[in-house]
Amino acid sequence: MCNHRNAGIIGIGSAVPDKVLTNADLEKIVDTNDEWIRNMTGISERRMAAEGESTSDYAAKAARVAIERAGLEPKDIDLIIVATVTGDMPFPSTACIVQNILGCKDTPAYDLSAGCSGWVYALSNANAFVRSGIYNHVLVIGADLLSRVTNWTDRSTCCLFGDGAGAAVVGPVDEEQGLLAFELGSDGAGANALRIPAGGSRKPCTPEVLLAHEDKIFMEGREVFKFAVKIQGMAIEKVLAKCGMTTGDISLVIPHQANIRIIESAVQRLGLSMDKFFVNLHKYGNTSAASIPLALDEAMQAGRVKKDDTIVVVGFGAGLTWAAGVMKWAY
Ligand code: UT7
Repeated sequence: MCNHRNAGIIGIGSAVPDKVLTNADLEKIVDTNDEWIRNMTGISERRMAAEGESTSDYAAKAARVAIERAGLEPKDIDLIIVATVTGDMPFPSTACIVQNILGCKDTPAYDLSAGCSGWVYALSNANAFVRSGIYNHVLVIGADLLSRVTNWTDRSTCCLFGDGAGAAVVGPVDEEQGLLAFELGSDGAGANALRIPAGGSRKPCTPEVLLAHEDKIFMEGREVFKFAVKIQGMAIEKVLAKCGMTTGDISLVIPHQANIRIIESAVQRLGLSMDKFFVNLHKYGNTSAASIPLALDEAMQAGRVKKDDTIVVVGFGAGLTWAAGVMKWAY
């Protein structure tokens, strides 16, 4: 990694739809119940985008807040990265649509697909660009409307997901501050465990495909659960080792908000107390690439993240992918 200057988050924001879908609402749609969902996942409710809205709407809302909190204007942004698996359209990229909404004139923009690890992947891209001096201010957005690709007849998945967006501006920070290390990985042998089977080049949409809900999320829940439990703890240990830290140095972990039992497994493995992990999944469910920046923003607004704190972010998801990062909070 280049060592020209340090890069860190200098502004963060998030946006979620107003509409709330509770577990009681889900009981009216599929054969489920509030107790099962809360016991098995920790989720009580999630947010749903309204008809006519799209991922770029929430991405841009979150971005505006992050840019303002960084004390910047859209013209100051040098690069836009949107981590998403539910872009507005297969192409153009959602990042280009966000660029136009924000009025970031001529700013380069691209989407990044790494499932629920996407925002941390994008954060590592931003780190490399800012550290090396190529760009000064990179907008890193995680945004997904999973409600659009949820199979509302499948009770094992439809209770898990929600909609939202989170965004951060990454810029130059003082020495020893900001983003310190990343641990990224993938294992494509697990690609089938979590996927949308149709709608891409392999299986274009046909009436039969739509009837079989193959344009919606398919998940081997148990397989993904086992993978998540193993990889989450391992990724945290590896990323801490990269910057000579131990679990004792952690101020707060912002884990991907998929399932409270997966988070509890990391608490146990790392020998930390639960209050070292920020949790908001009861309110939003799994919002994919939005999950970590949305939680980080809430933690920040709640006063749980302060200057010089050591913050660990960790995600896992479709790919299969995983990503962890360590930062010294810079403001
Ligand atoms: O971002 C990464 C994305 N994904 C994840 O992190 C998810 C990882 N996986 C999980 O969180 C868990 O696998 C789930 C919470 C999705 C499911 O938990 P599980 O312990 O793997 O349960 P299961 O799918 O094996 O189902 C156990 C039982 C089954 O009934 P039988 O066959 O034992 O009679 C299911 O039919 O629970 C039943 N079930 C439900 N019951 C009520 C499954 N979904 C529901 C439901 N309500 N919504």
